[in-house]
Amino acid sequence: MNLRQTLALLCVAASLLLAPGCAKKSNEPVVGVYLALTGKQADFGITTRQGVELAAEEINSRQGINGKKLKFVFEDDRGDPAEARTAVSKLIDQEGAVAILGDVASKNSIAAGQVCQQREIPMISPSSTNPRVTQDRPYVFRVCFIDPFQGYVMAKFAADNLKVHTAAVLWDNSQDYSVGLAKVFLQEFPKMGGKIVAQVNYQSDDQDFSSQLTKIRAANPDVIYVPGYYSEVALIARKARELGIKVPLLGGDGWTSPTLVQRSGGALYGSYMSDHYSAESEKPAVKQFVEAFKAKFHTEPNSLAALGYDATWILADAMKRAGDFKPKDIRDQIAATRDYPGVTGNITINSQRNAVKSAVVLKIGKDRPEYFTTIDPPK
Ligand code: PHE
Repeated sequence: MNLRQTLALLCVAASLLLAPGCAKKSNEPVVGVYLALTGKQADFGITTRQGVELAAEEINSRQGINGKKLKFVFEDDRGDPAEARTAVSKLIDQEGAVAILGDVASKNSIAAGQVCQQREIPMISPSSTNPRVTQDRPYVFRVCFIDPFQGYVMAKFAADNLKVHTAAVLWDNSQDYSVGLAKVFLQEFPKMGGKIVAQVNYQSDDQDFSSQLTKIRAANPDVIYVPGYYSEVALIARKARELGIKVPLLGGDGWTSPTLVQRSGGALYGSYMSDHYSAESEKPAVKQFVEAFKAKFHTEPNSLAALGYDATWILADAMKRAGDFKPKDIRDQIAATRDYPGVTGNITINSQRNAVKSAVVLKIGKDRPEYFTTIDPPK
């Protein structure tokens, strides 16, 4: 081994030993963002990133935080929980991130949140709604409501607004999000006088839903609750219509995608979903956000973009109040967030590190989901 090789080896050894401490020192505090930017959940990551980017641009064009510009580093986890863990480890160890934003699908956030908790780096999920994401993890937060509320919203909407009596439930058994929402609906709908007439499930990679839908057709429900993600839901809707099932489908925020209507080819027309926000709101803060977003991306911001935007601003606001960029101080200030005026509603982080907010119900129109009504958390 010559001297050059020995030196190179020593450097590698030193950087391994010093791992977290010797992360790339950038002058700018680093915010690490992990999202599904490719793969089956790519619509989630891409729209969320746009919301983060708009907020980042606003923050840095207004002198940054405490006199420093923030550096945002994005990692693609391809919608896979193991990749989400790797992405977050890389952002912390190699990029020196002082805070983390991500992911959308709860399963990925549950996996990566464990890493953030172990390293004591604060994480904010913009949109993961499964209760487990923040449970027993003092460093993990979210700026959205949780599924016990979201499931209640659809059960209440079915019983009170649609006044239907029977429902079938079809969920994705491989996603914590979908399993959790189905469970809540199965509990809540009967409490409101409804009857569950069929319960069937599938896995994220399934392509053929005919056996599940044939069972559902035989039970003849008034509505079908399908709390899954947009790619499977589009296939399910097409198959349901092919099998002659005409009743509306009901879903949750997992339907949110700019490609939902086109993928489903009209099969979801007249169906309903719960969501976090509507771009049609007349509130001045929303109008301003929608305009700025359209100017930058030439498309309307959906709930993912809005939550990505809110999560980024909540983090920046906490950093400002912390007065420094120490992960522990940032964590404490995120926890202290009260009545932050977000575009998705007023955000107060409660003692469970979740936000309590209203939900909207959207009706699927010809080109996109349209605002239908708002449902508030029970008092
Ligand atoms: N709430 C979903 C989950 O936890 C993710 C999601 C949020 C998807 C908002 C679309 C819009 O998995």
